[in-house]
Amino acid sequence: MLNPDLDRLKAYPFEQLATLLSGVSPPSDLAAIPLSIGEPQHAPPPAVLDALHQHLGLIAKYPTTKGTLRLREAIADWANARFNLTHAPLDPDRQVIPVNGTREAIFALAQAACDRDSAKRLVVMPNPFYQIYEGAALMAGLDPHYLPIDASGQPDYRAVSDAIWQNTQLMFICTPGNPTGTPLDADTLAFLIEKANTHGFWLASDECYIDIYRDEPPQSILEAAQHLGLSDYDRVVAFHSLSKRSNLPGLRSGCITGDARLLKPFLTYRTYHGCSMSLAVQEASIVAWSDETHVEQNRVAYRHKFAEATRILEGVLPATDPGAGFYLWIQTPTACDQFARDLYAHTGVTVLPGQYLGRAVDGVNPGAGFVRLALVAEPATCTEAMHRIRDYMEQTQ
Ligand SMILES: Cc1ncc(COP(=O)(O)O)c(C=O)c1O
Repeated sequence: MLNPDLDRLKAYPFEQLATLLSGVSPPSDLAAIPLSIGEPQHAPPPAVLDALHQHLGLIAKYPTTKGTLRLREAIADWANARFNLTHAPLDPDRQVIPVNGTREAIFALAQAACDRDSAKRLVVMPNPFYQIYEGAALMAGLDPHYLPIDASGQPDYRAVSDAIWQNTQLMFICTPGNPTGTPLDADTLAFLIEKANTHGFWLASDECYIDIYRDEPPQSILEAAQHLGLSDYDRVVAFHSLSKRSNLPGLRSGCITGDARLLKPFLTYRTYHGCSMSLAVQEASIVAWSDETHVEQNRVAYRHKFAEATRILEGVLPATDPGAGFYLWIQTPTACDQFARDLYAHTGVTVLPGQYLGRAVDGVNPGAGFVRLALVAEPATCTEAMHRIRDYMEQTQ
């Protein structure tokens, strides 16, 4: 016997991509350039690696699920400063939990937060979306409700009916978004917090790209809650990660912060789930959360790459910088899977068809007709990829 909910999980986008590209031979004289996966290729901060080395001996000890107070303080200090949480600074004891990368925590949160026997059936999410939201909802025994993104790069949240809000237990938002990079504005965040409190659902904001921006720092749901005077962050939690901000995707280190009414039972859930963070990783994470210099250097590199990419692709593909995150979300001249396959065959550049990140609702998949390009490689490699794409587009036009 198996958990029948397992049958509801969909093939992961990268499995679909592997199938799409199987049997395709890219040019043998060109090195492959993968822009399909959002894995930062910039160097991790040396001070973080040093801290990891220095504290390796701590793997001889069991860590607690809650993490050390020093780590929770470092996270709270970062969030309080970054999001101007001066009226209601995060309490490291009650409102911060370290997690082993936000992926596991996003999944686990739904398991802890959702009541599978409730009359309310929905976990609401954008469409296209980070795939874990859907898997988390399905394994929690609820139904995903997909909100199509529009030309803004985010769903039109004001178009959602009260009947849907009333049937919602948990909502995932993503700001800046994956795959579009578009951040949510302060009014929309406030609107969503009010809906969560009116209709009694948990609002989980996935903000793992929030420190990657060009000019304006995107606002956090925590900041918006504080502006509304919700000093307990009522019904709101946020996920932050060191993976993108600090180029540490393999460290598996992030955090969840916000409403202690959810974090307390979530901590209990996590104790049984067994996902405490190694003390050596905690020490390295303290260094990463406490330093902004490397994050600004990272932003400088992304600014440069976005400026280059949009300049090089101008006139051949509609590539615009969304202002945050590290993805370009580009409308394709042919079906997006065909485009990705042909591009790979001719250039060795891998991009992700948007339809793999979305779901068809009433026959319409809002991810179809787009590809996602992760500008994660070093600047010279990204520039090379953009030139190859430009040359290919010029040859096919
Ligand atoms: C939108 C979004 N959320 C969460 C994650 C998970 O990041 P991590 O588990 O490395 O913190 C990713 C990773 O790509 C992502 O794109």
